[in-house]
Amino acid sequence: SAADKGGWSSFMAKEVSEEPEAVANTIRGRVKDGEIVIPELDGLDDLFQGVSRVIVLACGTAYYAGLVGKYAIEQWARIPVDVELAHEFRYRDPIVGPDTLVVSISQSGETMDTLMAVKEAARLGARTLSICNTQGATIPRESDAIVYTHAGPEVAVASTKAFVAQITALYLLALHVGRVRGALSPAVAAASIRELEALPEKIQWILENEQERIEQLSRWMSDTRSVLFLGRHVGYPIALEGALKLKELSYIHAEGFAAGELKHGPIALIEPGQPVFVMVPSPRGAATLHAKVISNIEEIRARGARVIAVAEEGDAAVLPFADEVLRVPLASPLFEPILAVVPLHVFAMGLATAKGLDVDQPRNLAKSVTVE
Ligand code: G6P
Repeated sequence: SAADKGGWSSFMAKEVSEEPEAVANTIRGRVKDGEIVIPELDGLDDLFQGVSRVIVLACGTAYYAGLVGKYAIEQWARIPVDVELAHEFRYRDPIVGPDTLVVSISQSGETMDTLMAVKEAARLGARTLSICNTQGATIPRESDAIVYTHAGPEVAVASTKAFVAQITALYLLALHVGRVRGALSPAVAAASIRELEALPEKIQWILENEQERIEQLSRWMSDTRSVLFLGRHVGYPIALEGALKLKELSYIHAEGFAAGELKHGPIALIEPGQPVFVMVPSPRGAATLHAKVISNIEEIRARGARVIAVAEEGDAAVLPFADEVLRVPLASPLFEPILAVVPLHVFAMGLATAKGLDVDQPRNLAKSVTVE
């Protein structure tokens, strides 16, 4: 049954191993002849044509999925997107109206902060769409439209497979809305769908080829007191997610930063031995960003940081400056986050396990926070 660990040491170990299926099952049935077909969104073309802005609302890991989704919605659908923590949105007298589409993201569909923000947005006249992993939950019931993620039941308190499914659903939505609005050519849509469909196998490759090495690294690092994560563009939300997962599971101080912000403050934290994970953009897909991140790595390396690079397989530029390289398969820039997060989930889980902690039930946290 779903409530069974099925031979895994923890629900989280099982759920990380299910990240490929979470993506594949979220895509399944929603692609037809090179186009996105989301049956749940039939009849909503007018809504998508009429909106002039999108606000994404979520909490926790789902919020970071939303930050990734912003890049895809803006690129493919050409609609401006704001991403907000649901509890911050609600108490700010937000400016929304009938031309606003509020997209909420929630694994459980029961997070009270997110629910109340969605209700407030609806009261102010916004249209609401729920991305949710739980059939029939409260947030989708309160929304005008629903796109379910099909990650399957997630039991471990900290979210893993639901996160990759949430990004997948946001990408499907972005491609669909881009086509409906005429902002996206059939050729770009078809190529993007092919990239999306190739992700499950690439995630599987990471689990098969890198998981053991990452777990070994997490055992070596089990005495570490602080870990920093740097990323740029779509790698930035992934840095935030990597830091959150490490905090939640291992109780180690962890912080994520935008790599470009390094020189504006965080570089002061770099001292000899400080471990820093760096999400390295593809040298082919994003040459300028790649060069900038490599120069960030040089800067922190010169100050003694211990650099763990998450980089595309075959990226040789990173080798001279990184103490460790965690490899991910080639993908176009927008698709990198769904791959780059996998080593970070494995690392956080491995480190907590090395410290003898219960990865399924971290202290003080609840799977679904149903109070404000
Ligand atoms: C809790 C969980 C997090 C989760 C967040 C949002 O804080 O511990 O793992 O990301 O809620 O949950 P939701 O069900 O709305 O995605």
